[in-house]
Amino acid sequence: MAKVKRIGILTAGGDSPGLNAAIRGVGKAALDRGIRVLGFKDGFRGLVENQWTQLDKTALAGILTIGGTILGTGRDKPHRMEVGGEVRDMTDAIAATYQRNRLDALVCIGGGGTHKNAYRLVQKGLNVITLPKTIDNDLALTETTIGFDTSMGIATEAIDRLHSTAHSHHRIIVAEVMGHRAGWLALGAGIAGGADVILVPEIPYDVECIAAAIRRRYAFGTSFSIVAVAEGAVSAKDAKALAAAGERKRKARTEDTRQRAASALARLEARHTGNTWRLSRELEELTGLEARVTILGYVQRGGAPSATDRLLATRLGTRCAELLEQGEFGVMVAIQGGTTVPVPIGEVAGKVKYIPADHPWLASARRVGTCLGD
Ligand code: F6P
Repeated sequence: MAKVKRIGILTAGGDSPGLNAAIRGVGKAALDRGIRVLGFKDGFRGLVENQWTQLDKTALAGILTIGGTILGTGRDKPHRMEVGGEVRDMTDAIAATYQRNRLDALVCIGGGGTHKNAYRLVQKGLNVITLPKTIDNDLALTETTIGFDTSMGIATEAIDRLHSTAHSHHRIIVAEVMGHRAGWLALGAGIAGGADVILVPEIPYDVECIAAAIRRRYAFGTSFSIVAVAEGAVSAKDAKALAAAGERKRKARTEDTRQRAASALARLEARHTGNTWRLSRELEELTGLEARVTILGYVQRGGAPSATDRLLATRLGTRCAELLEQGEFGVMVAIQGGTTVPVPIGEVAGKVKYIPADHPWLASARRVGTCLGD
């Protein structure tokens, strides 16, 4: 096996705290092994456009604690990328850049989308290693992901702060937490912040049941409530309609019926934007209490990584350099049983790690009296 001498590294998908710590972890450990490191800019686009910067000791210094990514990021898909006003398959262009720069391997740091894209490059014959990064913690085969801990901390602090204002005004505050289609962030921050109601996509909710929990609190003399709602949470009614529309799309036999089913599904999904506001209005109507909405948004992704994320990113990054040296490619460096292990990218790509129904966090939330909307 030929020795790895030059690698490329990129960050893709939504940014998250700890990306720079990961770049530094891979970079420093690779330099230490005599490997040259090229940092490609703005995700997969940097590979298409051959835009890179040399990551030497100086470039890697002082970035451990900084949020975002020094390389920039993007959500481009190599097989469907907009170039010069046209959408084109750029995987061959990426492979050409890889060859032109005499890369021996490519390290992609990202979440669900990045893993699907990285897998396409594996199938093209490129030597790829990935690191799991997403504030959503929804990647398969790893217990945790870079950025999750920091985001959970930020969302927890926000929920803490919402308590005093909700209490002072005797209000319901509905706080929307990110997480895409999984509820890890809302559940983790909701438990840590002591939210009274936590709504996650994995448990479709019944608004009557939430209102009843809030009314019970009121009856016991607590006139405020904090509802932590994952951005992907849906009511049981909407979940049913979405599932039926999805099924119709899957079963459609002709292009015409497929198109109609797809637009019906898109309409339902579009209705989901603003769901938190709808929920807040419904709770006002059902409880007679005043409600307010707080969308935590991108604050959850910004700023310095927590100590836990810095440590995680450094462990994953340095293990990645070891795997590069050993020539073990086509793998994501995961955390399993608390240790770093390589798992096939093909088994991560296209999968989502949802909260399992028997997850201990759910059990603990219920035991402290949190309403989960069901
Ligand atoms: O995947 C991370 C995430 O922050 C999700 O929680 C959220 O749904 C999404 O990215 C937002 O994406 P964008 O940055 O493209 O608006």
